Amino acid sequence: MPKIVFIEHNGTHHVVDAPVGKSLMQVAVDNMVPGIVGDCGGCCSCATCHGYIEGEWADKLPPKQEDEEMMLDGALEVLPTSRLTCQVFIKEEYDGLTVKLPASQF
Ligand code: FES
Repeated sequence: MPKIVFIEHNGTHHVVDAPVGKSLMQVAVDNMVPGIVGDCGGCCSCATCHGYIEGEWADKLPPKQEDEEMMLDGALEVLPTSRLTCQVFIKEEYDGLTVKLPASQF
């Protein structure tokens, strides 16, 4: 099973098992990672699951869909590597994928 690394704004690392097919948001919530809220349950309507995809991983993920782009337009602290983690679904090859979390979600 792939492992995903979440890094809180304060630098705390969380390395968690990520079942294939689950969203990054759901994996974070299931493992009680602070900084991923997921208020809307993953239907792309709250932006409380915002995260920054680290390093080369940012280019390896499928591109954002229009609804994700629209929600990120209204989010705080958006960077080029920003994603809504509820819209990224775990694949076997994502082992080691690393996501930093913005200060605004604490
Ligand atoms: S959980 Fe609401 S937009 Fe991702």
